[in-house]
Amino acid sequence: MTAAAGKGLEGVVASQTSLSFIDGLKGVLVYRGYNIHELAPNASFIEGVFLLWNGRLPTRPELDAFEARLAGLRALDPRTLDGLRTLPGDAVPMSALRTGISLEGMHDPDAEDNSAEANRRKAERLVARTPTMIAAIHRIRQGKEPLAPDPALSLSADFVRMANGEPGTEEAVEALDRTLLLYLDHGFNASTFACRVIAATLGDMHSAVTGGVGALKGSLHGGANARAMQTLLEIGSLDNVGPWLEKAFAEKRKIMGFGHRVYRTEDPRATHLREMSRVLTNQAGLGEFYEMSRELEDQMIARKGINPNVDFYCATVYYALGIPIDLYTPLFAMGRMGGWTAHVMEQHGDNRLIRPRAEYVGEMDLAWAPIEDR
Ligand SMILES: CC(C)(COP(=O)(O)OP(=O)(O)OC[C@H]1O[C@@H](n2cnc3c(N)ncnc32)[C@H](O)[C@@H]1OP(=O)(O)O)[C@@H](O)C(=O)NCCC(=O)NCCS
Repeated sequence: MTAAAGKGLEGVVASQTSLSFIDGLKGVLVYRGYNIHELAPNASFIEGVFLLWNGRLPTRPELDAFEARLAGLRALDPRTLDGLRTLPGDAVPMSALRTGISLEGMHDPDAEDNSAEANRRKAERLVARTPTMIAAIHRIRQGKEPLAPDPALSLSADFVRMANGEPGTEEAVEALDRTLLLYLDHGFNASTFACRVIAATLGDMHSAVTGGVGALKGSLHGGANARAMQTLLEIGSLDNVGPWLEKAFAEKRKIMGFGHRVYRTEDPRATHLREMSRVLTNQAGLGEFYEMSRELEDQMIARKGINPNVDFYCATVYYALGIPIDLYTPLFAMGRMGGWTAHVMEQHGDNRLIRPRAEYVGEMDLAWAPIEDR
């Protein structure tokens, strides 16, 4: 009998990738050879997607052409919009997104084609349309008509316009775009691994990323950014951080936005998001939420040695931008869509079924009893 790997597959290196690298002890994250600290202040989200899909940074004409092509693909299939209109008005946006992505797959002209060319076309449509879909879900639930995309705007600027009905400031759009870049890829995280497991059965791209959305929704993964904001709202004031934490520890609650399976030190994405949170919350007159966050971080590190992860400071960034809390995780999906699609293409490019074994710990050798004798 082979012994099982550690619970939750901790420490298991499941396969190879050339997309992103994480050193959890040193707090390093690299996309295709570029440290996240190089990329975060410089690259746009779409530039990051180009890097991930092509293995190199684009030239100016290449980036312009790539942006223009994706901008031309933003409109959802009208039948997808019809489908979104039939969802319950109180549907959780992540569930609506899961259904919407699946619906797009029903109508995609390349749906059942797993060739490299078809996968690239589908990946482009998915990255281009996820913002349109999230904005449509948000407007439909408010009883408003979804807005058509404006290909003259950048992906992030168009998302803000389609969601709010009016353009965002340059600074808000830039901040949103940076969060998408920071969310783009992260090794074999749970949702990406789910995508790869589905892709490895030779499941299609839309099936794989629909599974990814489902995995991301959980509060131990992408759902944590919304929960982190709810935590801060529950704490309510700087003075209450200590007493609140005391009670949370006594109740053995997990503090959302803290801890990570791989990082044992600062999550390098949090470094950028912390500074963005400081600037944006102060500008929005919400500085107390930053102060509370810092206090919570200090106390978590001092008392438990647990650092904030990507989701913790992203929460207050999105709060300062005025984004509804239940759209935080869909925005994570909007960024990670670039990574999920890259992983599906990498998996299909050199495929082998992913099928681990289980260590059976149940009973054996029981004798059959007729139903009337049980
Ligand atoms: C991310 C996460 C699931 C990683 O989990 P993991 O690798 O399985 O780590 P464990 O849950 O085994 O945690 C190890 C120890 O740290 C504690 N811990 C980890 N994260 C914690 C948190 N957020 N709050 C309080 N304690 C935490 C655990 O209780 C455990 O303590 P114990 O050994 O005394 O039982 C976990 O840190 C977590 O639940 N965080 C909150 C959700 C979150 O922010 N998710 C987004 C991740 S990017």
